[in-house]
Amino acid sequence: MEMISYEMEAVMVVEAKVKGFICTTAHPEGCKESVRRQIAYCKQKGTTDGPKKVLVIGASTGYGLASRIAVTYGYGADTIGVSFEKESNGRRTATAGWYNTKAFEEFATADGYSAKSFNGDGFSQEMKAQVIEEIKKEWGKADMVVYSLAAPRRTLPDGTSVSSVLKTIGNEFKNKTIDLRTNEIKEVTVPVANEEEIQNTVSVMGGEDWQAWIDALAEAGVLADNAVTLAYSYIGPELTHAIYKDGTIGQAKKHLYDTSVALTKKYADRGLQAYISVNKALVTQSSSAIPVVPLYISLLYKVMKEEGLHEGCIEQMQRLFVEKLPQREVDGQSMFRLDDWEMKDCVQSKIADLWTKVTSENIKEISDIDGYWEDFYQMFGFHFDNVDYAADVEI
Ligand code: NAI
Repeated sequence: MEMISYEMEAVMVVEAKVKGFICTTAHPEGCKESVRRQIAYCKQKGTTDGPKKVLVIGASTGYGLASRIAVTYGYGADTIGVSFEKESNGRRTATAGWYNTKAFEEFATADGYSAKSFNGDGFSQEMKAQVIEEIKKEWGKADMVVYSLAAPRRTLPDGTSVSSVLKTIGNEFKNKTIDLRTNEIKEVTVPVANEEEIQNTVSVMGGEDWQAWIDALAEAGVLADNAVTLAYSYIGPELTHAIYKDGTIGQAKKHLYDTSVALTKKYADRGLQAYISVNKALVTQSSSAIPVVPLYISLLYKVMKEEGLHEGCIEQMQRLFVEKLPQREVDGQSMFRLDDWEMKDCVQSKIADLWTKVTSENIKEISDIDGYWEDFYQMFGFHFDNVDYAADVEI
């Protein structure tokens, strides 16, 4: 039999395939539309003086993508982005982050900014070495590093792999949650983590890898004097403390905070400033996986929209980079508080009240579950009113 080689035409109609808290397809044109809208928002908000060579680790979705867009269009910065996404194999679509990155590169390049992206494991030494080479070649030095990597597992330098868990510490926790397959309110029991699970979660989502990046960049001489580095955290209200702030992920976030303090101290002679920004709870691929949190987000959206205080990732990151960071507008622990509006008394007291009332029957009325799903679908490029979803697209 003769072997024939041909270019497969990877053109198809792409539909959303949602399984619980994940969508296994992504729409290239919809992802592009999402990036286009985020850029348009930043362009309209204007610019300020800021870092010009920015490395973003975890740059393809959620807060990292919004950070990359906000510094490009807010500071006029060139960016290098690192993410871990799947390309299309010709039959299945690529992941949303893959399409987002392509779209961002296209828009940024057209607008005169350099945007280079690396796809692979950000935890690895190889990825750090590649990025350092690129900085040496193209920039000389980076003056800002944003660490927005969120992952369920990490391969350690010795080749072993550890996974993070979303569990409580001390006592198990029972509370309401939403079953995302049926939109029903159910009771969930979140189990208690053992010591090893806590350590592994800290290893994946704490500050170790952030520190490894900064150490590697500093050792290679590619970190500018007085550079700024940021990583993202969450605190949230009492209602979610058992699962978030006081749970395994909270231990990782505590480690992340301690790392910010340690980094600023370690590199004080070079003027490095390492900060945590505490961001608002929002629908992202990572937050959808946490029990209790999606229901909290549905109520939060409802109240914040009513109060005229609602923001998405891009509004948050535009406010961080253009308004708060230049003024070093931090709290007593040197953290940027982008959760300032979420944590307002007028917002939280309403949520606490709604929390006791919400049931499967009234969820559509008293929560913004529709807004939750709208954001969810849009994360994968679906439900944009100006995208033709019946048309064939190149995947
Ligand atoms: P996300 O899931 O949207 O983004 C994660 C990013 O990390 C993606 O770009 C992904 O490609 C990248 N990534 C994952 N594994 C990787 C690997 N091995 N190597 C390189 N890149 C990898 O998540 P989200 O929500 O934007 O989270 C970013 C940060 O913001 C996290 O620290 C999270 O805890 C924090 N945060 C999130 C909040 C939320 O409600 N979503 C609230 C406050 C803070």
